[in-house]
Amino acid sequence: MNRELITTADGSHSLYVKDLDEHYHSIHGAIQEAQHVFIKTGIQYLVSQNYSTISILEIGFGTGLNALLSFLEAEKLNVKLDYTSLEAFPLDTMIVSQLNYVKLISKIENKNESKLEKAFLDIHKAEWEKKIELSNNFSLQKIKNTLQEITFSSSFDLIFFDAFGPRVQPDMWTEELFSKIYVATNPKGCLVTYCAKGEVKRTLKKVGFIVETLPGPPRKREMVRATKN
Ligand SMILES: C[S@@+](CC[C@H](N)C(=O)[O-])C[C@H]1O[C@@H](n2cnc3c(N)ncnc32)[C@H](O)[C@@H]1O
Repeated sequence: MNRELITTADGSHSLYVKDLDEHYHSIHGAIQEAQHVFIKTGIQYLVSQNYSTISILEIGFGTGLNALLSFLEAEKLNVKLDYTSLEAFPLDTMIVSQLNYVKLISKIENKNESKLEKAFLDIHKAEWEKKIELSNNFSLQKIKNTLQEITFSSSFDLIFFDAFGPRVQPDMWTEELFSKIYVATNPKGCLVTYCAKGEVKRTLKKVGFIVETLPGPPRKREMVRATKN
């Protein structure tokens, strides 16, 4: 897959995949989108529901942006996050080393840049399939596999569904795969995704989720949170 580094509207980088004509994040702001869809509507929501430990499954590890923001959020909220991230096509270290997330996030969050740099490197260097403790608040297991092939051996409170969009990768948004995720979701757990297409919402409902359409990140009207009752 051919990927090109681009800068989104909030100054943060993303990648453009020419073959798919698709970006890894919203072009209106990669960090803003991740913060809104996954951190605020996912992690902060479950913490407001009195979770103090959250098991997270991310579909599409990609640049590691969601993992880095989650690492920081765990420390900020003093909660324990067990983060599992699935990726079929890991990025080359050359691309990862060019991403400006550490620089920008350390400014936004007023954090020590070298401490954050170490966390980002640890996240990327983590061996595939092996669970590691990155801090007292954050464990990480990266799994190199496809959503189609994987059999989940545990279940999760929160799913970050961050696949490429249904326009370019319809095979990631099927009833069969959402059903597999539903089975792997703990009761009262939820899935969050940036995509609020009608067909996606109907499929999520069909497999058993209760679907909420919520305000999206900047310049995106809506997003979805789907809860298992
Ligand atoms: C929208 S990007 C994810 C962005 C990522 N969460 C981030 O913070 O950078 C979608 C990701 O899904 C991965 N992917 C594509 N097909 C997949 C599959 N069948 N199973 C698992 N991951 C897949 C891609 O390689 C890509 O990294």
